[in-house]
Amino acid sequence: MLHPESATFPAETLRAALAHWFSAHGRVLPWRTNPSPYAVLVSEFMLQQTQVATVMPYFVRWLEQFPTLHRLAEASEDEVLLLWQGLGYYSRARNLHRAAKVVVERFGGELPSDPAVLSSLPGVGPYAAGAIAAFAFDRPVPTVDANIARVLARLANVKLPVDSPAGNRAIWALAASLLPEKGGGRLHTSALMELGALVCLPKKPQCLVCPVQAHCRAQEPETLPLKAPRKATVQLTECAAWILGEEGVLLERQTGRRSGGLWSLPKLRLPPTTAPLFQTVYPFTHHRITLQVHAAQPSDVLSAEQSWFAPERILDEAALPVGHRRAVSALLAARLGLPNSGSPLPAVVPEQTSALL
Ligand code: ADE
Repeated sequence: MLHPESATFPAETLRAALAHWFSAHGRVLPWRTNPSPYAVLVSEFMLQQTQVATVMPYFVRWLEQFPTLHRLAEASEDEVLLLWQGLGYYSRARNLHRAAKVVVERFGGELPSDPAVLSSLPGVGPYAAGAIAAFAFDRPVPTVDANIARVLARLANVKLPVDSPAGNRAIWALAASLLPEKGGGRLHTSALMELGALVCLPKKPQCLVCPVQAHCRAQEPETLPLKAPRKATVQLTECAAWILGEEGVLLERQTGRRSGGLWSLPKLRLPPTTAPLFQTVYPFTHHRITLQVHAAQPSDVLSAEQSWFAPERILDEAALPVGHRRAVSALLAARLGLPNSGSPLPAVVPEQTSALL
């Protein structure tokens, strides 16, 4: 087994090959065309756990609605969540909003360039701190995301799970050993990441067209990186209430770390006695949720978290988890003849089943 620590690479030759390849094959992406600190901050929050193609329209809309860090800092949480709706992992949106406020309050509106200082911002871990320092400020600092981890694990034939403490340390050390000495972090990090996205693919690495193939020590690249077993998907059933009164549709504000701030159809208080009006399956982190929506009556007194929404405005005003949005849209179409916009924002994982029952 080769430990990356013991394997010295011709770093300068590798960097030159990567840079040359990237200048010919790197994708034109909006946060690359405009790598302002704010654009990079937004893109890095959005790109955590989410594919480039999904992020693109969200990123463009975001910069239209919140063109500066100050504008984001001044926005309400409802506006922020509404614009994030459909991207999932909503704690990222709340943290991005909080990070913008901290930058305004503590750093006079200027994003810091030091990864150690960036790490003090809400939602900015070691990966994002390095990525922001490299992409926005061209700093030659290491960062490791899933693409870079795969490229480096193969290059050095690392046989430790990359998500184990020892494997993670080895990969970060290797990333640091390949850096340019002064500046150049943007090009180098972009090229490494892009190689993982376009060539050093998880299942079918395209070794024949790889610009660093001559230096790669992987014997069976498709078996790397090693990873600890994944968390199993958990199946859950959620029963929600469809309560349409004179004042509109009743929604409930969610609390908690994962989806606090989002609205949803109220939880059904008692076990359902009738068939659901609507059912859909949607993903939420490592859960697969079957949402069943049943007709129900409001209780005499609404809880503090509940509120009525006018049918015509609900989809523009309330940020809802993707399954609840689908349900509201379909039920308003069926009950009131409003247009069924389905799930107009792209879901993070493709839609599974959706049915009016
Ligand atoms: N994934 C995370 N950050 C990225 C970036 N800046 N470009 C492309 N993919 C990414």
